[in-house]
Amino acid sequence: MIKNDLILKALKGEKTERTPVWMMRQAGRFLPEYRALREKYSFFERCQNPELACEITMQPIRRLGVDAAILFSDILVVPQAMGMEVQLVESVGPILPQPLKTAADLDRICVPDVHDRLHYVAEAIQHIKQELNNEIPLIGFAGAPWTLLCYMVQGKGSKTFDEAKGFCYQNPELADTILQKITDTTIAYLKMQIEAGADLVQIFDSWGGLLSPQDFERFSLKYMRQIVKALEGTVPVIMFAKGAWQSLREMADTGAHGLGIDWCIRPEFARYIIGPYTSLQGNYDPAQLLAPIPEIIETTKAMLKSFGPGRHIANLGHGILPHVPVDHAQAFIDTVKNYQFN
Ligand code: CP3
Repeated sequence: MIKNDLILKALKGEKTERTPVWMMRQAGRFLPEYRALREKYSFFERCQNPELACEITMQPIRRLGVDAAILFSDILVVPQAMGMEVQLVESVGPILPQPLKTAADLDRICVPDVHDRLHYVAEAIQHIKQELNNEIPLIGFAGAPWTLLCYMVQGKGSKTFDEAKGFCYQNPELADTILQKITDTTIAYLKMQIEAGADLVQIFDSWGGLLSPQDFERFSLKYMRQIVKALEGTVPVIMFAKGAWQSLREMADTGAHGLGIDWCIRPEFARYIIGPYTSLQGNYDPAQLLAPIPEIIETTKAMLKSFGPGRHIANLGHGILPHVPVDHAQAFIDTVKNYQFN
C-alpha cells in the first residue's frame, strides 16, 4: 500500500484532498546535486548503474517533496537495446552515428530480450522501490515509437525531424516495420518495468505534434494504442504527446488513464474535447518558471483553477529547463500542494 497515492487516485477519477504534482524531467540537470554526479560519470553510466540511477531518482524527492518519483533513465536506451549506437554529446544532445536510412539498415536492429539488454532498468526500479519505502508511487516510462523513430532515422535532435518524416513518406512499409519493432520492444520493456515495481507508466511522444491528425494516427497512435492495450489490467498509463492536441479525442479513446497536455491549449478546452472519464496532466509553461516567484504563484493558481478539482495531475507542459532556479520550481510545487478549491 502506497501512503501518498494521490496520483493513482487522480488517474482513477477518485476524489483527492488536493491536486497531486510532479515535474517532467525532475530527475536531472536543474538540480546542483545531479550536476555534481555528472562530473564523475558519463550519461549512460548513470543510467546503467542501478545505485546511481536510484540516487538520481531520489534527489528531487528529498529536495522538493513531489507526489511521485520518475525513474532516472532515458527514452534512447530502447534504440540502444535494439542494436543502435547512441551517444550523448555535451551541449549537442543525442547522436546516433549510424541512423536507419535504407531497407538494408533494418538488419542492424532487432527486438531484443529486454530482460537481458535492459536488466539494469529492472534492477534500478527494485532499488528505488526499496528506497521509496511505499511513501509515493514510482513512474516508469518509455518513448513513443514515433518519437524513437525520429531519432533512429534522423540520427540527432531536430526542430522539424524532416528527414525522419521524409523517410516515412517515401518508405511507409519500412517505417511500419521499424515502428512495429519498437512497439514490440516497448511493450516487453514496460511490462518488465511494471513487474519490477513501477506503479504507473508514462509514454513520451515528444514529437507527436509534428504530425497532421491523419499522420499522427498512421505513424504514432496506431502503435501507442497497441501499447495501452497490451498493458490493460496492469497499471495506469499516461500518454503525453507534446503539441498533439489535435488528436486528444483519439488518444482518450485508446483507454489511456491520463493524457498530458502542454501550455498551448486551455485546460477547459482539453476537458471539453476528451469528456469526463480521462484524467489530464499538465500544463504549466516550463519557461514561466523563470518568472519572479510571486508571478509563478499567481499563474500556478490560475492553472489549477482552469483544470478544476479532480482528474488532474499538476505538472509542467514539457520537461523542466536546466537553468530554472530550484526555489522557483519549489514555489510551483508548494503552490499546488497548498491550494484548496472552495
Ligand atoms: O524525467 C526525468 O527526470 C527522468 C529522466 C529522463 C531523462 N530523459 C533524463 C535525461 C526522462 C523521462 C527523459 C525523457 C526523454 N529523453 C525525452 C522525452 C521527454 C522530452 O523532454 O521531450 C526525450 C526526447 C529524450 C532524449 C534526450 N535525452 C535528449 C533530447 C537529451 C538532451 C537534451 C536534454 O533534454 O537534456 C537527453 C539527455 C538527458 N536525458 C539528460 C537527462 C537528465 C541530460 C543529460 C545531461 O546533460 O546530464
